[in-house]
Amino acid sequence: MFLLLFSFLAYSSVPVLQGVTTENSTQINFLVEKGRDVVVLAEDIKSKKAIEPKLKYEVLRDYSDFKIIKVRFDSLKANTKYKLEIKNKDNTVLDERFFKTLNKSSSNPVIAITSCMDDSYEKEQKEQWQDLVSFKPDLILLIGDNVYVDKPINNISADDFWKRYVQVRQKLEIFRIKNLIPIVAVWDDHDYGKNNGDSSFKYKDEAKSVFDSFYSQEDEKPFFENSFGVSSRLSIYGFNIFLLDNRSLNTKESIFGKDQKNWLFSALQMYQKPSFIINGMQFFGAYHEFESYERLTPDDFIDFRSQLKKVKTPFILISGDRHLTELMKLSKQDVGQDSFEFTTSAIHAKTYPSPWEKTPNPRIIHGEGGSLNYGILKIKKLKPFTIVLQAIGPKQKILYQKRLVIN
Ligand SMILES: [Fe+2]
Repeated sequence: MFLLLFSFLAYSSVPVLQGVTTENSTQINFLVEKGRDVVVLAEDIKSKKAIEPKLKYEVLRDYSDFKIIKVRFDSLKANTKYKLEIKNKDNTVLDERFFKTLNKSSSNPVIAITSCMDDSYEKEQKEQWQDLVSFKPDLILLIGDNVYVDKPINNISADDFWKRYVQVRQKLEIFRIKNLIPIVAVWDDHDYGKNNGDSSFKYKDEAKSVFDSFYSQEDEKPFFENSFGVSSRLSIYGFNIFLLDNRSLNTKESIFGKDQKNWLFSALQMYQKPSFIINGMQFFGAYHEFESYERLTPDDFIDFRSQLKKVKTPFILISGDRHLTELMKLSKQDVGQDSFEFTTSAIHAKTYPSPWEKTPNPRIIHGEGGSLNYGILKIKKLKPFTIVLQAIGPKQKILYQKRLVIN
């Protein structure tokens, strides 16, 4: 009994995040007490060969009792399982996890899309993350409000970013799972520290510094590149995922800014791969009174749409933020091809009754209010780009599902 208990504790004593992962490399970070010295190794499960990280460094703040340790392993084998060992200086095991490198030839990858993670929903978060993991996603995208920095605090200070990220990292079940799943993130307003915040926010540099510390998404070209703000492009399984920063470059003229838009559209022209274009707030959302690209900067949204119309590859738009889920059908007139916008929020936070009776959405084909939710996207084919999309509620209930074919 003691042994059982001990081995259980050994698995989950440290919150761990696996970040950008390719066929032969992975970036990982974990949170430990500031004074603790640790040794980190990856062990090939089959050959038992131990591999030292190519890179290892710490990030800390003088006012905090915790530090983030970041490591990067390279020279790994594709589609191989490794044991991550975190040991104390005296060689006792502090934590053990398992991780895999990317299986490039995976024909049916599964991506989980999540947003709005209110850590005060303790019971819900635990159940929701455990349920999500059982869908066996190859990748989890956190698309905003991953940390409510400005809740429950009213007037935040620069120190609150680090403090709230530490609290959330310690609390959420997803950082305690035995078999790690790569996570790539982008922020929305609450991670950024200010409700509906924009580029004028005084703490935007600290917000970015803490974001960069707690995720593991350094450049890993050509598979992964960072761009303006906290935006990035991930290229895996034959498609591109664009995660856009709607906050630190957000002005009265454009929520993304000219530079980020130029980067996005030149990449969409250059790579010619099926693409996921993602940011926290809804793209098409003028039907309601809350934030959306369409409502906040309507002229720039017209330009965004006209540039989408020149894109020759299939794409789908994905968003969060709304604390509801809906799927919109987009027409050739909207974006130059028959496509969709999928909104999923919140995995664990407050939800509200369905809004569509009061504010009908002309583009909606499925929707569900008043229910926690996340998205499971099963990519079936690249040509034509075919995805089975599911909006999942509590207890793995399928709120709706649809087979999307985008030519
Ligand atoms: Fe939210």
